[in-house]
Amino acid sequence: MDLAVVKELIADLNPQDWQEAQELILAALQRVNERFGYVSVEAAQVVADHLGTTVPRVYGLLTFYADFRTEPRGKKFMLLCHGMSCYVMGSQKLVQTLQDNYGIGDGGTTAGGELTVQVVNGCLGVCDRAPIVEMDHEYYGKLTPETFNDLVQRVIAQVNAGAAS
Ligand code: FES
Repeated sequence: MDLAVVKELIADLNPQDWQEAQELILAALQRVNERFGYVSVEAAQVVADHLGTTVPRVYGLLTFYADFRTEPRGKKFMLLCHGMSCYVMGSQKLVQTLQDNYGIGDGGTTAGGELTVQVVNGCLGVCDRAPIVEMDHEYYGKLTPETFNDLVQRVIAQVNAGAAS
């Protein structure tokens, strides 16, 4: 992560006092997260220094909110719906498949950096196709652990084929 860019992103956030600094931490983290897809420890340090607050305070907020990531995403990003309908239709088995076959949990990335999977507890709005995942604005529904694993395998293969070409 280019820390000079981080400094530029937050350059106009200049708190007048400690209270205002606390309020600006989230804005700063949002800007960095939007730009890079995550906020590194080093970036959290830059934010803390710029706003005149502490790294533990910044890092506490960074790790509290699910929207923020502290590590880079994989080349592909997938949402796995864990809303009520998907849960009833077996989304937990898909989560388990990720754990068993790839050793990753919520927000985890496959070993080669191909795919990050985020589990979402809110409904993705296509319950009739539960359990479902979304990637690149496409939905893949009525998944079983086997078809889900096939999908993950395809994504990994496609990313690696793209990287090799
Ligand atoms: S609960 Fe998953 S799409 Fe509605």
